[in-house]
Amino acid sequence: MSHRTRRVSRSAASAPGKIILFGEHAVVYGRPALAVPVTQAHADVEVTEADSAGIWIQAPDIHLHAELNRLPSDHPIASVIHNLFFLSRVSPFPSLNIKITSTIPVASGLGSGAAVTVALTRALSAQINYAMTAEQVNAFAYEIEKLHHGTPSGIDNTVITYAKPVYFVKGQAIETLKVGQPFTIVIGDTGVSAPTKESVADVRKLWEADKVKWGSVFDEVGKIANEARDSIERGKMKELGALMNQNDALLQGMTVSSLELDTLVTAAQNAGALGAKMSGGGRGGNMIALVEPEQAEAVARALMDAGAINTIITQVS
Ligand code: MEV
Repeated sequence: MSHRTRRVSRSAASAPGKIILFGEHAVVYGRPALAVPVTQAHADVEVTEADSAGIWIQAPDIHLHAELNRLPSDHPIASVIHNLFFLSRVSPFPSLNIKITSTIPVASGLGSGAAVTVALTRALSAQINYAMTAEQVNAFAYEIEKLHHGTPSGIDNTVITYAKPVYFVKGQAIETLKVGQPFTIVIGDTGVSAPTKESVADVRKLWEADKVKWGSVFDEVGKIANEARDSIERGKMKELGALMNQNDALLQGMTVSSLELDTLVTAAQNAGALGAKMSGGGRGGNMIALVEPEQAEAVARALMDAGAINTIITQVS
């Protein structure tokens, strides 16, 4: 008796989470911002040929198991697939199983949506033999971000696509951030999920009501981001910590912080962090603290004691 095993074609891709070190929100208005990938949290996508006709999506983290056509066309996962099929002009539609898993908490400022988009785009394009450069993946992911997030700057998809520290200015060529001396960041999760779209929309309302005032606040944030870039390049950690605290105060003024974020920021500062701030869209999600490596565990413990539901210690190099 002979067995013939059919080879099932398979493509897989992974994308990291991210944190914004400096400049969130002001970056939407053309000011510079700094962001780094966080490889401890990631989205993973596996695409295989399916036995039955259709595109079968399984995303256990969000309890999703459905055929593509059963999803609303504006569903974030469906919109990636529809738009990629449209772009690549794939015909006929292949039969596929798509499995999506992610360890990046949703709506937490760690870029979960952009990471799923980037990993799905890479795995799916490979499976349908549609070659995409990193630049094309990034441009495509930005279009998807725009569908779901109102007026994103593009920083999330950029840092996640290139998976390296970036100095980012909206609409400009991507610049890699040079890190003079590796440094340690503790990330603390408030456990409060807060969609970036809403805080971005609220900052826009402030800005529309008084463009002069908020324009100068954004300028101050941009100045801090530039100084922070300089401190990172020269390995000046004390300066960098002070800049984090200053950036956080300006974010509080923009109304995008929250009691939970402020509590964790203060706890990190009191536990000996060189500086701390909220990170990303705000109103919940994650905060970050710059620490000497030997302080990292103590600061992480202080964050848990102050109410964090999770912490990540990450090295930026
Ligand atoms: C979100 O990670 C960063 C924000 O500045 C929004 C954006 O840049 O698109 C809040």
